[in-house]
Amino acid sequence: MSAIKLSKPQWSSQRIFILAAVGSAVGLGNIWKFPYIAGENGGGAFVLVYLLCVALIGLPVLMAEIGLGRMGKANPPQAMANLAADFRASPLWALVGLAGVLAGLLILSFYTVIAGWAMDYFVQSAMGHFRGINSEQVGDYFDGLLANPWALLFWHTVMVALTLAIVAKGVKGGLEKALNLMMPLLFLILLILLGWSVAQASFQDSLRFLFAPDFSKLTWEAVLVAMGHAFFTLSIGMGAMMVYGSYLPKRYSIGKAAVWIVLADTLVALLAGVIIFTVVFGNGLAAGAGPGLLFQTLPVAFGQMSGGWFWGTLFFFLVVLAALSSAISLIEPAVSWVEQNWRISRVKATGLLGALVWLLGIGTVLSFNVWANVHFLPGKTFFDSLDFITANIMLPLGGMLIAVFMAWVVSDRQRQAEFRLMPGLDAAFKWDLRLIAPVGVLIVFASNLASDVWQQVVAVGVALVLYALYVYNRSRFNLYRVADKS
Ligand code: TRP
Repeated sequence: MSAIKLSKPQWSSQRIFILAAVGSAVGLGNIWKFPYIAGENGGGAFVLVYLLCVALIGLPVLMAEIGLGRMGKANPPQAMANLAADFRASPLWALVGLAGVLAGLLILSFYTVIAGWAMDYFVQSAMGHFRGINSEQVGDYFDGLLANPWALLFWHTVMVALTLAIVAKGVKGGLEKALNLMMPLLFLILLILLGWSVAQASFQDSLRFLFAPDFSKLTWEAVLVAMGHAFFTLSIGMGAMMVYGSYLPKRYSIGKAAVWIVLADTLVALLAGVIIFTVVFGNGLAAGAGPGLLFQTLPVAFGQMSGGWFWGTLFFFLVVLAALSSAISLIEPAVSWVEQNWRISRVKATGLLGALVWLLGIGTVLSFNVWANVHFLPGKTFFDSLDFITANIMLPLGGMLIAVFMAWVVSDRQRQAEFRLMPGLDAAFKWDLRLIAPVGVLIVFASNLASDVWQQVVAVGVALVLYALYVYNRSRFNLYRVADKS
């Protein structure tokens, strides 16, 4: 067998694996991105679509991705190449892993810039600068920070350096212990903030905004953003979970782990949303304020709470840690690929890729000041363009191909051996990956390409016919397939 199985089981328990995967999933996506895109896209209906995408596409694709990593036993491009060889499929499948490596680096380049904002807020809060602050003052402070490219560059540099320091040592080590403490603490602090929110008059407005759907506000672009975010928030579609899966011993249950990851991730996002919109409506702020939403709202809440200095400082510290545990999973696919396939030491690989990410991040730093009016995609700054291309296109595309590979290329026997699901669940898993996940992604993609209903019908039709053709050819090809390996 030509397969090169390079990764060895590393996670010392099922619990540690879940913790690391939750650490990857829970991050800026939940606390910073979810609330601001929910605000920009009108709330309730958007949230409902997001939740549907998480349940119907996110969970099964998450399982599939972890499973492919464990079966392929290597970094994403190599794992896909191994599996394609095992199942006599096209070697082009390795491109899914390669695109994932690229997507991770692109995402990380803006992720560290935003995490830098949280770092700055941690310092400000610790120094007591947010005491008794009102929403206008927070807004001014935030605008001032974004207007200063040197400050943003400084924090971006700090975050890249911290990420590299952890990754250079390997995913295990100190990270396990840090995660153990940090995840429960983050959760605790969100509950304390929830307690504060419940006592506010605007709490009702927040709930209504997030959970009472108004479908007249829903556009196909909003559906694309909601779907893209389901991939982003669960860290799927680019191989991060594949790498983590490649370190997972055979005896642990993937389904159980995936359910915990999804529950924890969704809960944190909804909590953050409810808290932030309580501040928004209590202070007459704009729900659609954009990427600054978290940073323009929470200091106000902490400013009014008793013990707010302590909780605020701890909160921003935990956001930085949550961002770090996600950041390492964004670069780990690339690092393990360079390390394993180019035979470069882990430290060198990390340094090389880190330099690339740091450089690219400068584009995001400038998006908020010097390049604020420079557009890369129509109407979108460098940062907006990167975010759109990665979260809304690359991740869903990667996730869809992962679903197709698991459901049409991997044999029934191999899938059942890997997941050990009850027969009914196994069938639901397989048909979800065959139909719901890929067709869902195709429909949302096609609808976004079209500008009126008829174009939309045609685009969706063409996408479905192409998919049917693929499936038809695939099953003919399967007749020639030699029996499963193992
Ligand atoms: N899920 C993380 C968040 O919500 C971000 C993240 C980490 C990610 N690893 C990823 C997103 C891999 C996509 C793919 O903040």
